Amino acid sequence: MLILGLSAYYHDSAAALVRDGEIVAAAQEERFSRIKHDARFPGDALRYCLAEGHVQPSDLDYAVFYEKPFLKFDRLFETYMAFAPRGFTSFATALPLWLTEKLFQKSMLVRELRRVAPTSLVDWDERLLFSEHHLSHAASAFFPSPFERAAVLTMDGVGEWTTTSVAVGAGNELKVHKEVQFPHSLGLLYSAFTYYTGFKVNSGEYKVMGLAPYGEPRYAQRIRDHLIDIREDGSFRLDMQYFNYCTGLTMTSERFHELFEGPPRQPETRLTQRDMDLAASIQVVTEEVVSNLARNVASETGERDLCLAGGVALNCVANGRLLRERTFDRIWIQPAAGDAGGAVGAALAVCHLTKGQPRRVPWPDGMRGSFLGPQYCQEDIETRLTAAKATFTVLSEDELIDRCARALAGGKALGWHQGRMEFGPRALGGRSIVGDPRSPTMQKTLNLKIKYRESFRPFAPSVLSEHVNKWFDLDQDSPYMLLVADVHEEKRMAMSDTERALFGIDRLNIPRSAIPAVTHVDYSARIQTVHRETNPRYYALIERFNALTGCPVLVNTSFNVRGEPIVCTPEDAFRCFMGTELDMLAVGNCLLDKADQEPSLAARYERSFGLD
Ligand SMILES: [Fe+2]
Repeated sequence: MLILGLSAYYHDSAAALVRDGEIVAAAQEERFSRIKHDARFPGDALRYCLAEGHVQPSDLDYAVFYEKPFLKFDRLFETYMAFAPRGFTSFATALPLWLTEKLFQKSMLVRELRRVAPTSLVDWDERLLFSEHHLSHAASAFFPSPFERAAVLTMDGVGEWTTTSVAVGAGNELKVHKEVQFPHSLGLLYSAFTYYTGFKVNSGEYKVMGLAPYGEPRYAQRIRDHLIDIREDGSFRLDMQYFNYCTGLTMTSERFHELFEGPPRQPETRLTQRDMDLAASIQVVTEEVVSNLARNVASETGERDLCLAGGVALNCVANGRLLRERTFDRIWIQPAAGDAGGAVGAALAVCHLTKGQPRRVPWPDGMRGSFLGPQYCQEDIETRLTAAKATFTVLSEDELIDRCARALAGGKALGWHQGRMEFGPRALGGRSIVGDPRSPTMQKTLNLKIKYRESFRPFAPSVLSEHVNKWFDLDQDSPYMLLVADVHEEKRMAMSDTERALFGIDRLNIPRSAIPAVTHVDYSARIQTVHRETNPRYYALIERFNALTGCPVLVNTSFNVRGEPIVCTPEDAFRCFMGTELDMLAVGNCLLDKADQEPSLAARYERSFGLD
């Protein structure tokens, strides 16, 4: 049975192809269109998925959309009624868009699907199905997990009505036990603070999480006292007087601004200690809510293992805390936890729940390391790079690994484009920029000269899986960079009293460990364990770097500049390489040195992308 999953029209459109319960391909539209968080119909991602699976549109049994448009319209309408006349502004703004596009989403989807296969005689009116938003998230969390049975927790901003759901998965079944509904939403609460601290909603949440360790949670009690009522049963309610997302076009209300003594920070202005304290405060409260929910889920369901998805599951600091609290024996998190992953979940939900197809429990999981996107053969890479006027050397795998590892040990920054592209927001060694984590200047160089992004933002380590517990306080796999743990005590450096007294970002430049480029100011790190089975070439690179330096860790950040989607093709990689201060680039078996390239091909191209 062949099922196509689709998510679109909100943010992060994506397509996924599932064959007999196995995920064959999945990709976000932004990687092809080069527009970050592209929300349009994922036509290119869909065409890629069909090509990857050698499938014609007429071979598809079903196409399934990741949410139910009518239920979503129902929420908008009822919210308007509940808050009328105050809600009229937001309703009147949303209505024309909903009437012309979203309410007629089915016919729009059918039209788009027909465009992909103009000659085939598929009756899409019959083959197009809809899954509920949180059921799509839950299915994406449970079915690809390595568990026969597990509790499933999904948390995000909002889908149709639901903002949080608890389900239990067993075999090929998945049953929802309870839900929290709009407007009470942990994701929207976090987004309110994202907006208030001057970042973009739906993409800047990651920055708030990265900013939190620079601050003190001195507003946490105020949040608990006024904004959110955290209940014994794990649920929560927000006091809507402080928020504007039901009635206006901003996240926070005047009353919120009074409570925190000031207006929202203007984007791109200087960050102050207050912003960092606000970030620390919302982070702490979010962790409390998640941990309280998880404890309730454990006692109510009696399950030993937990699966997570929904945008809030990308909060790897909260995930790390869940793990340390040992409420569950094991935790598995869908790497594409946001709405892109809904495409995979929707397809799996139809496969197992609607059609009753059996489920084989996958090992190590069903996501193949999240390497579900396009790859390019060596011949194709050479043709493409030649056409782009690149100068490169073709090496054997062994020579390539050796030259790259030596360059990294010598302090060079390397672009690494290998195998299939990752599905989900993180680069995991398929489309990555890598560097030496021991270098005290690497964080600054990567942030300011290569990624052109804010200097406070931390970088993540990739560590060989066998070595993780010697370098970090973590003794389990974290293949998708979704768990935060501290750098191991033995690898830390003590701070002097004067250094400890420094506030906020001033603390950034003090070397805090043997791997300062990936050690955050509170000694934490967002860890990716690298496994030989799912990522052999990246594993070999780190292994060789370890042989040269005694350090089985690399800095790993996504291959893009600020505001740009992660690179997809060899040409994208070459353009980013030439437009930044990257020193070397490895694409397949081709190695490129910046010094050998034609200087006129260099362009300051970071300006071609809007700020994220
Ligand atoms: Fe969602």
